[in-house]
Amino acid sequence: MKKNIALIWGDCSSPEIVTQAVRVMDKIAEKYGHEFAYTDVAMGGEAIDKYGDPLPASELEKCKASDSVLLGAIGGPKWDGVPVPMRPEKGLLRLRSGMGLYTNIRPSKIWPQLAGASPLKESIVAKGIDIMIVRELTGGIYFGSHTTSEMENGEKKAVDVMEYTEHEIERCGRVAFESAMKRRKKVCSVDKANVLDTSRLWRATMEKLAKEYPEVEYSNMLVDNCAMQICKDPSQFDVLVTENMFGDILSDEASQIAGSIGMAPSSSLGDGTCGVYEPIHGSAPDIAGQNKINPCGCILSVAMMMRFSFGMAEEADAIEKAVDQVLSEGYRTADIMSEGCTCLSCSEMGDAILARL
Ligand code: IPM
Ligand code: MG
Repeated sequence: MKKNIALIWGDCSSPEIVTQAVRVMDKIAEKYGHEFAYTDVAMGGEAIDKYGDPLPASELEKCKASDSVLLGAIGGPKWDGVPVPMRPEKGLLRLRSGMGLYTNIRPSKIWPQLAGASPLKESIVAKGIDIMIVRELTGGIYFGSHTTSEMENGEKKAVDVMEYTEHEIERCGRVAFESAMKRRKKVCSVDKANVLDTSRLWRATMEKLAKEYPEVEYSNMLVDNCAMQICKDPSQFDVLVTENMFGDILSDEASQIAGSIGMAPSSSLGDGTCGVYEPIHGSAPDIAGQNKINPCGCILSVAMMMRFSFGMAEEADAIEKAVDQVLSEGYRTADIMSEGCTCLSCSEMGDAILARL
């Protein structure tokens, strides 16, 4: 198959992981007889430096014209001072909404080899961690209006608006229920329905949708309780579905209990097959240029791209198996290093995965 892949190299440590992910894609292409062509796209800090805009329309168009987008991570202290509408993160948000990617899937699965890296007690980890977080990605407080104004008494006031419509909730919920049907058939919808109207609409819409999936065991949970349950007994969860900001927060927590945020991939999809695939961690400015960052989250995002956008299940399995093997043989990057293991740099981790592909 021939596929056009847009590459967003990202900021700070990000190009280091994207480099390794591209090597993996090239190897997959060679091994399975595919042709992957790449188009570089500037977004975030890189685009601010080049164009004074975190995602110029021409760069968004390149992404929309591609078969899928691979992204490292954007942002860093260098751009902390830029005006809010021009921040690197705005580029990412515009990419998500501009491409209509309304659901973000973030799996959090314990690698048995990394059980020791989980901050949770062994007895809790032993019960298993295999959660799929389905996060709404183009609505909620991220996309409502944001204003800061000066009041008459000279005090400042800031307002962020959180909005949801039924169809936005329903289409995200559907992805969660469909995913659950292919997994352990459990959906837990997370909200703050005891306080927020958007959450009450969220809950009512999910409950209505649940009736269409009688085989799925459905439950609701308040977000504060969910944050607690994720570290108390993560084995109770299969698919978690939640709105944008709650999903942002809970997915960081869920990735860390599974060992390291450095291992966690994600996919963002809408109605079509063209998506954005990215590790869920940030651009790690503190270790930029040191060849230290863990490329696995980005490489595993490639596996998700193969599986979800290109229907290349065998290729995806091969990538995941290669990562699994490297871990089994005791190779680690610094973030997941433990006693008795061999610590590799980012590029050496890429070499190790490539050698097992
Ligand atoms: C994420 C990130 C982004 C988000 C930031 C960079 C805007 O934290 O993908 O989880 O909040 O969605
Ligand atoms: Mg986040």
